[in-house]
Amino acid sequence: KTVYVLNGPNLNLLGMREPAIYGSATLEDVKKLCEAACARHGLALEFRQTNHEGELVDWVHEAGLVHAKGELAAVVMNAAAYTHTSVAILDAVKGTGVPLLELHISNVHARESFRHHSYLSAAARAVMCGFGVAGYGLAIEAVAQW
Ligand code: DQA
Repeated sequence: KTVYVLNGPNLNLLGMREPAIYGSATLEDVKKLCEAACARHGLALEFRQTNHEGELVDWVHEAGLVHAKGELAAVVMNAAAYTHTSVAILDAVKGTGVPLLELHISNVHARESFRHHSYLSAAARAVMCGFGVAGYGLAIEAVAQW
């Protein structure tokens, strides 16, 4: 089965972006961590990042087709700022029925109040935040059991 790890806006800046919050690992480092976790469980990996909301919607639809064939393990999504704004991504998850693990590097609940609400959580099977980039590996360990 395949795990889609989808990353939203500004996550291409990981490593240089607010390192006190997000750490010093780059997105390339995160990809390697995900590859290692998937390899441990015999899972295939689609690892992507975009700054565009509609592209995340398209990728959820693509994952939905994989899901319909019974070949999707899960979508692990860090929708970044779109988490707090996007009804479109919520509807894509609901419309495709993909099993979603919502992921955040930082503990969004300990930050500004506008980060406390997520449109995606209503359609997520699980939500993780605050584990730093290690959360990506932990997320894959989790969805390997789904
Ligand atoms: C984030 C938290 C969001 O509030 C923020 O907009 C991000 C990253 C995280 O991984 O902690 O860009 O999703």
